[in-house]
Amino acid sequence: MEIKKVTVVGAGLMGHGIAQVLSQVGKFNVALLDVKQEFLDRGVNWIKKSLGKFVEKGVLSNEEAEKVMERIHPTLNVEEAYKDTDFVIEAAPEKIAIKKEVFKAADKLTRPETILATNTSSISITLLSSFTSKPDKVVGMHFFNPPQLMKLVEIIKGKLTSDETISAVKDLIEKIGKEAVLVKKDAPGFIVNRILMPALNEALFLVWEGIAEPKDIDKAIKLGLNWPMGPLTLLDYVGLDTALSVIDVLYNEFKDSKYRACPLLVQMVRAGLLGRKTGKGFYDWKH
Ligand code: 3HC
Repeated sequence: MEIKKVTVVGAGLMGHGIAQVLSQVGKFNVALLDVKQEFLDRGVNWIKKSLGKFVEKGVLSNEEAEKVMERIHPTLNVEEAYKDTDFVIEAAPEKIAIKKEVFKAADKLTRPETILATNTSSISITLLSSFTSKPDKVVGMHFFNPPQLMKLVEIIKGKLTSDETISAVKDLIEKIGKEAVLVKKDAPGFIVNRILMPALNEALFLVWEGIAEPKDIDKAIKLGLNWPMGPLTLLDYVGLDTALSVIDVLYNEFKDSKYRACPLLVQMVRAGLLGRKTGKGFYDWKH
């Protein structure tokens, strides 16, 4: 199947980066759909900033960066976003109710052969596919933050996802210059978040129990394990609300107390200390 148009649903932290990565290939038109103009404007600004960094580094020329922007079509209009699209990547907030509405609309407004991929961090692909009439075309396509720089994309096979769909996703991942791993069974957290989230949660417990200061925990893991960012910086980077959603899914699906969210995480989310996206989490990001 030749892909000409891709629709990215959600212009947030992940969606804007995914749209940019797709557009940078130079072969696809990218519709970027969101529910509020301010979300679209913010996403477009982030893309411009990121392209600016690539231009500064000489990865892209000014003209190429302009073309990347020209191929991205931000819209609030659902019909326009899905019209004649070949591939949908949903990157809406990690809430089942929101994703259900997105999948129902995408199912109704796309052609039968259009693939419906989701960038969910943890929600069951099989559950999301049940909101559509074509579960064989629904698949997990999980990018990592920031999508512009991170090489990995997890492909997750839902219970009813067809092999044809998996191979179309593999092709697309190759075209955008990323590396794929296949998650053969639809299990909570897939590979990376199943390992990462308990580690981040444990770092939160170290703070909660007063064992060490955040900056020392981060320093320990950066220098002791060679992570590019310490766990608390990484929490700020991905968003504490997103991390809480993922940990809650692990806890609820496995029904295992080892995945119980640290009370500090719950408190910080309630206080709006979500990290980079709100300007404050463990660190101050307002600069
Ligand atoms: N677009 C373009 N360039 C960017 C960029 C972007 N969005 N973000 C950063 N850069 C560039 C910077 O300009 C900088 O360029 P330079 O080397 O020429 O100065 C370079 O990338 C490095 O950036 P920084 O100096 O700001 O910071 P780092 O050296 O720490 O690199 C990083 C940034 C690549 C994000 C690195 O810190 C990193 O790998 N961090 C860990 C990220 C990670 O673990 N992500 C996964 C999170 S989990 C997840 O996403 C799953 C989800 O389901 C929760």
